[in-house]
Amino acid sequence: MKKLYLALIVIGLGTFPAVSSEQKVKDRQNAMQQVREVVKVLFPMAKGKSEYDDFLVISLLEQMLEAAKPYATYFPSQPEVGVHSEAAETIWTDRPGFEKALAKFLSDVEATLDAEPESLEQFQPLFTEVASNCKSCHQVYRMK
Ligand code: HEC
Repeated sequence: MKKLYLALIVIGLGTFPAVSSEQKVKDRQNAMQQVREVVKVLFPMAKGKSEYDDFLVISLLEQMLEAAKPYATYFPSQPEVGVHSEAAETIWTDRPGFEKALAKFLSDVEATLDAEPESLEQFQPLFTEVASNCKSCHQVYRMK
């Protein structure tokens, strides 16, 4: 009985957190990959290099919003050890700042959705605002 108990503790401390933190890293990288896929289409559109398509803009932004909404929940309360991640330590030393940066990103995406931009001229300044969040968050919260 004692042995079984010990085994459970060992499993509990060792395997499970490692598996779940790897899963979280995967989830957040997957979320950012989705964000990037959307930007890859919308960026040339905002530059006038591809034809403006308001329906596509809305559906891609909705997709991006869904992918980014749970983003903060993919970060545990303590930094993970031994995982392959570009997350900077500042996420844990300045959690409120990180969550604020995420909230701003989400609200800029929402503002663009609410505006339902029908033309490129309307879309451009909104998208510039959305896209500015990538750099400002990465500079502080992502390691290169
Ligand atoms: C609120 C902060 C924040 C915002 C806003 C943000 N990112 Fe990120 N991004 C991160 C962090 C943190 C990582 C590193 C996470 C990790 O490796 O664990 C990351 C990683 C990535 C990655 C690498 C994913 C991988 O497979 O390792 C890509 C691509 C990316 N971001 C694209 C974008 C784009 C494009 C935007 C803007 C539309 C954006 N991000 C906005 C925080 C943010």
